[in-house]
Order: sequence, then C-alpha cells, then structure tokens
Amino acid sequence: MDIFETIVVALWAMLPAYVPNNAAVLAGGGRPIDGGRTWGGRRVLGDGKTWRGTAVGIAAGAVLAAILNALAPVVVRTSDIALPEFPLAAMFALPAGAMLGDIAASFIKRRTGRQRGAAFPLLDQLDFVVFALLLTLLAAPAWFGDVFTVPVLVVIVVVTPLLHLVTNGIAYLLGLKDEPW
Ligand code: CTP
Ligand code: MG
Repeated sequence: MDIFETIVVALWAMLPAYVPNNAAVLAGGGRPIDGGRTWGGRRVLGDGKTWRGTAVGIAAGAVLAAILNALAPVVVRTSDIALPEFPLAAMFALPAGAMLGDIAASFIKRRTGRQRGAAFPLLDQLDFVVFALLLTLLAAPAWFGDVFTVPVLVVIVVVTPLLHLVTNGIAYLLGLKDEPW
C-alpha cells in the first residue's frame, strides 16, 4: 500500500468512529448520563454527556458503516483501493467505543477539576480513537488485525487530532458548539 492508499483506508475504517461525536453535538440535550450525581464534590460526568447524544451518536456511526459497506464495491472498482468491509461487530464497536472514550475523558476532566467544556489537549483529540480501537479489537479481533496495520494506525494517530480540530472549529463557527475543541 502506498501512503495515499494507507490514508484512504485509515479514514474509511475510522469514519464510523469519527461521526458519533459530531452527531452527539447536534442531538445532545435531555437527561445527563450521570443523572446529576456528584463524586467528591464534582459531577461524575457533567451535563455534556447525555443519553440522547450517546444513543444518536452510536446509531449515526452504525448507519454510516452500513452506508460505507454499500458504497465500498463501487469505490473499490473505480479506485482500485482495497477498502475494508465492516462486520456487524465493528459497525457498533467503532461508534460505541468512540462515545465511551469521550465519556471516559469527561470523567477524567471532572476528577481533575475541569468544568464542562474545558479543554484538555490531546485527551480531547484522541480519547475516542483509543477506545474505538480497543473496543473493536475486542469485538472483531481478526478484522482488526487485517485492517489496522501499523502504518494505518500511525496515520490514524497523526491525522485524527487534525481532523478533530478542524471539524470542531467549523462546528464552533457555525454556532453548533460552545467551544472550538
Ligand atoms: N453530547 C452529548 N452526549 C455525549 C457527548 C456529547 O449530549 N455523549 C453533546 C452535549 O450537548 C455536549 C456537546 O455534545 O455539550 C459537545 O460535546 P463535548 O465537547 O464532548 O462535551 P462538553 O460539553 O465539552 O463537556 P465535557 O467537558 O464533559 O467534554
Ligand atoms: Mg468539549
């Protein structure tokens, strides 16, 4: 695989993990997951992690994976790039892991005294990647091994923070998000 193909495969495979956060921003609101509970005087997760945002985020990622599966044959034929097809386990593990990572990051932010919306550089940009990959490794180990080769993983770790900053910056400029991170 040349570098261009590696980047295309990395982005394709991670798209179902990329959209949940953005979908959650659009869908967020309603009951917070922690139900308002505190721990050590601080919220467990905070109002920024809601049931609705989480459910819509996971659903959006799974639907996107199904759409990508339908598109893959056409793209493979025209581009000759060997794109992965998402098995059912990965269709859910990628977005569920992404949401879980985001929730875990909020937990850490609250424990370290950061208010809702506070920035935590690198944690904000990579939390969801690490959890999406870990959950997919557990749910679909053979597929994980085929798709997430070392070069693909390197591309993901380098490109994801940039993508995250750009998409959240756009969401902020559009007034959809309160902070640009
Ligand atoms: N959101 C949600 N449920 C999630 C994740 C996000 O409802 N599981 C929505 C919330 O409305 C949240 C917005 O998306 O305010 C932006 O997400 P994020 O930046 O992750 O949350 P913050 O509000 O910044 O809170 P935190 O400091 O805990 O990250
Ligand atoms: Mg935030």
